[in-house]
Amino acid sequence: MSGEHTRIAVFGAGYVGLVTGACFAELGHSVSVRDIIPERIERLRRGKVPIYEPGLDDLLARNAERLVYTTDVAEAIDGAHFVFVAVGTPPTYSGDADLSAVWTVIDELPELDRRLTVVMKSTVPVGTGAKVRHRLDARGLRHVGYVSNPEFTAEGTAVSDFMEPDRIVIGSFEDVDGDAVAALHSGIDAPIVRADVASAEMIKLAANAALMTRISFINEIANVCEATGADVVKVAEGVGHDRRIGKSFLRAGIGFGGSCFPKDSLALKQLAANSGYHFQVLNAVIEVNDLQKRRVIGKLVELLDTLRDKRVALLGLAFKPGTDDTREAPAFVLAGRLLAEGAEVVAWDPVASADGLTGVTQVPSVAEAVRDADAVVLVTEWPELAELDWRALAQTMRTAVLVDGRNMLDPEEMRAAGFRYDAIGRAAANGQG
Ligand SMILES: NC(=O)c1ccc[n+]([C@@H]2O[C@H](COP(=O)([O-])OP(=O)(O)OC[C@H]3O[C@@H](n4cnc5c(N)ncnc54)[C@H](O)[C@@H]3O)[C@@H](O)[C@H]2O)c1
Repeated sequence: MSGEHTRIAVFGAGYVGLVTGACFAELGHSVSVRDIIPERIERLRRGKVPIYEPGLDDLLARNAERLVYTTDVAEAIDGAHFVFVAVGTPPTYSGDADLSAVWTVIDELPELDRRLTVVMKSTVPVGTGAKVRHRLDARGLRHVGYVSNPEFTAEGTAVSDFMEPDRIVIGSFEDVDGDAVAALHSGIDAPIVRADVASAEMIKLAANAALMTRISFINEIANVCEATGADVVKVAEGVGHDRRIGKSFLRAGIGFGGSCFPKDSLALKQLAANSGYHFQVLNAVIEVNDLQKRRVIGKLVELLDTLRDKRVALLGLAFKPGTDDTREAPAFVLAGRLLAEGAEVVAWDPVASADGLTGVTQVPSVAEAVRDADAVVLVTEWPELAELDWRALAQTMRTAVLVDGRNMLDPEEMRAAGFRYDAIGRAAANGQG
């Protein structure tokens, strides 16, 4: 099968599944995408993309002839050599990963007399592959191969991340399956890391934990900058030039959210704990992040005295720009805290929805969000926020208070525009140093 075009079934038409399907179709493979939500499949058949991910709609449209969408397992698997599992693995109440959707896919695989390789794209605890192998064997599906091929794409840049990845990780029990999955990626120029299944699973969890650690680290540096009169933006610039450290993930802000980091940090914490190990660094990373999301509330209280009956505009609901994903988004934590303090909350986002945020009014423009507000909080660094006429906006507010949760704006310019401005870890830039 090496290098030739083949047939792939992708289970899960979410962020990862759709990007995986579209990119494999772009590489010339035939892809069937299966989901259990009929409306999702119907929309895809009509050429509509159910999620917002830059470049995905073009890619799906361009490769439409190599893509089919179905809710039917048999139709999805018909003639396929690979089944990519890209279903959700959300946290359970205990923080462990909920693998029920993964098990459904495995248990729904029909009896097959030909070779098929199951490829795990979903993020799963270390040991999942071994359990799947056992379950397949128990059903007499010894000839069904298993590969761990974790996904590292980031929402907002997922298509280019998939086509130009830093590396492709392939963990297999048998070389033949790993070779086949490596061959599927021919056309993508990236180092391939071959590993045993458990190590491939751990690579994903460790990579996420490293990125989260950097975020919580720089956020703590920011908090110390605030207390001591330094500017974290300058500090990060100076630190990031060190080649041993590098620049990425050193932007201080109001903490990480999203569908991956929060749940994957909890899952790794629980995985370690279940194995008898107390993962101290990761516990601190999680705690710092939880507190960081709430620090903005303290800043607002300082600037406004009280939040009761104050109108606060949240700019950005998505957990980061370039996506409509609001899972674990800092905006949702902020909104909840503000409402609890008796504030009125208005929110704007160019693509994400405030659905599920009871008590928050979503408006279609920044101007409407900001008008008559007592304070505005920049929550998601959507690029258009850098282009606004902030001087004009300040004049429409009841009190021109701005907390820049992403250190996106220039403190001097904002003060010149008439704002009482605060950011994250910028004591020196705020003239407090
Ligand atoms: N979102 C990301 O940026 C990202 C990045 C890397 C890894 N991951 C991991 O990839 C996995 C998928 O994440 P996502 O964000 O794409 O999830 P998602 O919630 O956007 O999509 C999952 C999809 O799977 C479907 N599904 C559930 N059960 C199914 C079944 N039995 N058969 C077919 N489809 C089924 C759901 O209906 C849903 O549409 C998770 O484990 C996640 O941790 C996500």
